[in-house]
Formats: sequence, structure tokens, C-alpha cells
Amino acid sequence: MADPARIRLLCEATLRGNWREGVRAGDSVRYAYTCPSPGHYPWQWYWDSCFTAIAWRHFDPTRARRELESLLAAQRVDGFIGHTIFWDRPLSGPRRFTYNVTSPDAPMTASIQPPLLAWAWRIVVGDPATNPGIVRHHDWLAAHRDLDGDGLIWIVQPDESGLDASSKFDVVWRRQAHSLPGFLLLVRRNRRLDYDPRRIVDAGGPVCAEVMTNVLYNLSLLALGRPSLTERIVERMYDESAGLFHLLARPEPARAPAVTWAALAPLALPDLPEAIGRRLVEQHLLDPAEFWLPVPPPSVSASDPTFSVRDKTLLGPRRYWRGPTWVNAAWLVWLGLVRLGYTAQADEIVRRIGSAIVSGGLREYYDPHTARGMGAATFGWSTLVMEMIEPDRRAAASYIP
Ligand code: GLC
Repeated sequence: MADPARIRLLCEATLRGNWREGVRAGDSVRYAYTCPSPGHYPWQWYWDSCFTAIAWRHFDPTRARRELESLLAAQRVDGFIGHTIFWDRPLSGPRRFTYNVTSPDAPMTASIQPPLLAWAWRIVVGDPATNPGIVRHHDWLAAHRDLDGDGLIWIVQPDESGLDASSKFDVVWRRQAHSLPGFLLLVRRNRRLDYDPRRIVDAGGPVCAEVMTNVLYNLSLLALGRPSLTERIVERMYDESAGLFHLLARPEPARAPAVTWAALAPLALPDLPEAIGRRLVEQHLLDPAEFWLPVPPPSVSASDPTFSVRDKTLLGPRRYWRGPTWVNAAWLVWLGLVRLGYTAQADEIVRRIGSAIVSGGLREYYDPHTARGMGAATFGWSTLVMEMIEPDRRAAASYIP
């Protein structure tokens, strides 16, 4: 195990250094959050905050709770919470064209990020069902994002999944995929349609039910004591012949999407049928030609033609989620390894991620072959490694009582 004491120090220093708190000018609402990376990502991002709150509990449970409460402080009365909240400085620069805001002075985006707030609350604080804001938030999602009435939620842009330029979205959004010039047109159109999936479907789409987003949403439903979506996820997204989970999209993509780590994300579900979990692990996660690279799991299977670990390409900065390894992904598949009893492999992931962190610091992502740190520095959610080096007994059950 790579130097846990040093990792702990690094994590604590990053969380403390990235902590922001204050009172919003104008309406005096109090905020407190960990910015993902001071230079590159200054605001409060929804899913980053859920992850950093989970990591904060190893150092300061009060801050862990305040971070989640800050998301609730941004909540609209109808329950909606945006993808990014601009507490202490307004949206500026070129991001005004690419961010999902319906007006230049909006306090937050009109788009969502993977809704894991109830699950994070369960891990950090306790029962989310006793918090009216969290209940309202999940009611909003069910009312606005469940297009088929079967529980699965749909996203209207790739960045709503947090997986931005993942290559699996290429077949869904094509020339309007994240980081391509056409993305500007997608944002312009969705601003007009208020990021409302029903209006977007009526206008021809695309919309997408993404696997990892639904896994995190389902963990929130379980945390709230609501019926599990796992059966539905298996029924609609599991490809029995490949032994992998795939996204759904409207209109139906012309080709199969790229194989990314999201295909393995259901491993984090405590009620995933064991045979499916074992197949995900043995046939895909542990295959050195697919996901078991020196720093596992890469965001895209190494056997997929779209796998790439370059920081930038000729087409522009399409660097996110197309090959490098992210610590949140490692943690989510690690939960499955632990639950299914693959103890040696679970320890191995921790060892390899731990050494990448010790040598390169807490970076946004890592080269899965060389462990070189890439992307933003002093990156918040990479502190999730704390969950793996200091697991408590709840880890084995994905934190659902
Ligand atoms: C990038 C990631 C997104 C994350 C944000 C802040 O846009 O793709 O998932 O929330 O950075 O870290």
C-alpha cells in the first residue's frame, strides 16, 4: 500500500486549500464548498461537492455536512439544483457561451449533474428522507427527467452526466458532442428549450439515459428508502451478449456506443445480481486488454478504437473521459470488487491509484499506462482515495443500510 500517511496529508491539504465559504452578495445566502481546482474550476459543482463531502468526513464532518447543505442552499423552490453554482463570482469569459445558463447573471446552470446528493447525505450525515430539501430534489428529478415513467432518468447534454466528452456520446450527439464546435449550437438550442427533456424530444432530441448517471441516481433512491431501479437498469441497459451496460438514446444511434467504464458502473449497486457483477469484473474489469491497465480503470476500454490518453487532439481540447483514469470511477468499481469479495483486486486498485497520487499529486486524472498526472492540479474529488485507504464497515455494502 502506497504511503497512506502521505496520501492523507495530501488529501487534507487539498480539501482545506480548495475550501470556499462566505455569504452571497445580494441575498445573503451562506455558502461553503470545496472548489474542484482553484485555477481551473472555481465554482461549486454538484457532483464534485458530493464526492468531496464524502472525503471531508475523514477530516472534518462539519465541513462535510456544510458542503452538502450548500447545494441545498442553492436549491430552487421546486427542488431543482443546478450542475454548477456561481456563488462568489459570476460566470465569465468564454464559458458564458458553453455553460448551460438561461441568462448571463443566472445563479446556477439550468442543467443537472449525476444526482447522488441523497446517497452522499446518507454516507456523510444520516437519513436523507428526513431532509425535505433532498426529498424535493429527488421528486423534481422523477417529475422532470423520467421520460418513460419507468424510473430511469434522461439527460439532455453529455455534460449532465459529468462525463462531458466521453467517447460513448459521439454516436448520440455526433457533431454537437462536447468540445466540438457544434456543441455551441447544442447549448444555444437547449437554452431556448429550457433544458426540458420533453421539449427537446419534441424538437427531435437527442436525449440519453446514461448508465452511470442512473446508477448514482439509484443509489440515492436506495438511500431514500425508495424502490430500487436496478431491475429496470438491467432490463433496459444490460447487453447480455457483451456482458456490459449500454446507454439508451433518442433518436436511436446508428452505431453502438464506445465501451467506457460507465458500462461497469452498475458494480456500485448493492443489489446488482451477483452473476452480472462477476461477469463485469472477470470478463471486462480484470482484462488487461480492456480495463485492467497499470492504473485501472481507464475511462475508456483500451480495446475500444476511441481510447486515447492525449491531453488534447487536433480537434481541440477533447481530453475528458476518453482514456485517462479518474479516481471517482476507481472508487465506484472498487465498491463492487469489495462487495463481491475480490479482495486482492480491490487492494490492488488502491495500491496503484495510491502510487499515482503519491508520485503525481491529486490530479484530475492519470495516464492509465504511466500514472502521469493530467488535467487540473490539486483536484478535489481525487481525495475520494480516502474512502479506499480508510474504508469503514459500511463500504462493503455500498453504504446502504
Ligand atoms: C469537468 C468534468 C466534470 C466536473 C467538472 C469539475 O467538466 O467533466 O465532471 O464536474 O470538470 O470538476
